[in-house]
Amino acid sequence: MNVLVTGGAGYIGSHCALALMQSGYDVAVFDNLSTGHQETVDTLSGCNLPGRFLGFQKGDLLSMEDLDRAFKTFQIDAVMHFAAFSQVAESMKDPGKYYRNNVLGTLNLLDGMRAHGVKKIVFSSTAATYGEPEYTPIDENHPQNPINPYGSSKLMIERIMDDYDMAYGLRSVRLRYFNVAGADSGGRVGEWHEPETHLIPNILKSTFGDGKEFSMFGTDYPTRDGTCIRDYVNVEDLADAHVRALKYLENGGETDFFNLGTNSGSSVKEVFGSCERITGKAIPLRVCGRRPGDPAVLIADNKKAKETLGWQPERALDDSIRTAYGWEKANKQH
Ligand code: UFG
Repeated sequence: MNVLVTGGAGYIGSHCALALMQSGYDVAVFDNLSTGHQETVDTLSGCNLPGRFLGFQKGDLLSMEDLDRAFKTFQIDAVMHFAAFSQVAESMKDPGKYYRNNVLGTLNLLDGMRAHGVKKIVFSSTAATYGEPEYTPIDENHPQNPINPYGSSKLMIERIMDDYDMAYGLRSVRLRYFNVAGADSGGRVGEWHEPETHLIPNILKSTFGDGKEFSMFGTDYPTRDGTCIRDYVNVEDLADAHVRALKYLENGGETDFFNLGTNSGSSVKEVFGSCERITGKAIPLRVCGRRPGDPAVLIADNKKAKETLGWQPERALDDSIRTAYGWEKANKQH
């Protein structure tokens, strides 16, 4: 089974590509390298796993020609779609970039699938489609009222996927991630964003003794210690859910959507404390004001993914911090 992984040169896409090949799927990567990395593609292509690495196409979802070529060259049977811009703050400043690349790009991808008779897609969606939580833990019935263009772009894609199923029988699984953390336990790939905006890599980058303080955004939230609470799901557990989602579609499963999280939350202060304990370092800290748009608490209800996909997150936050730290130390130059 040949799987096209769009955004396979990025953080989550690369971990899922590894998990697919580990499970015996053959993988082709499609990425424009605007935020992904050639080094990541080289690592994937050099891995000796049960599934083959079919090849890499540097291409853009906004080009139908690029997409056509990928479907033809690699004889694709199913798609995992990660290629997207994903920074909330940037999406507020430059919404067009998000609607054009994320929404239009996905429309092209779906039309490419139609043209080449590909009927199965696993899509990287987000908790940001829910917006400000009305209750926690958030289950899949929670209203979807995104509060930024990033979340809106992902919700539009979910709606389009419903319509493409109705009209063309193109089945999808949409996985709504909460906060993804950690790196490959074999150290092959990891989180590599420029600029880095996420909590755990930013804390860990401040351990290197170059004077860079970690900025803690907001200590006056209505939570147990005043800092925001998030549900951190390990990236290898997340990748496992993607493989299960693809198998679900292969077995005739209907279009559906699932939260991916752990049912429990950690505060920014707790994560910071765990990072100090695991690294054995006193990490320079600066307490700052709130970052605009951060909800106080985001925790997933993951019952549906457990029941339908048989998925169970196995790794604890400490495991994510440990693998992320290993990755950061090995790749300081990033
Ligand atoms: N934080 C800091 N300092 C930092 C970075 C983050 O204090 O340097 C805090 C944030 O204010 C927030 C928490 O750590 O309270 C987590 O922030 P992240 O940026 O790591 O993650 P978010 O919860 O903001 O974002 C995640 C995904 C987004 C998705 C969003 C859904 O990364 O893609 O959840 O709400 F849109």
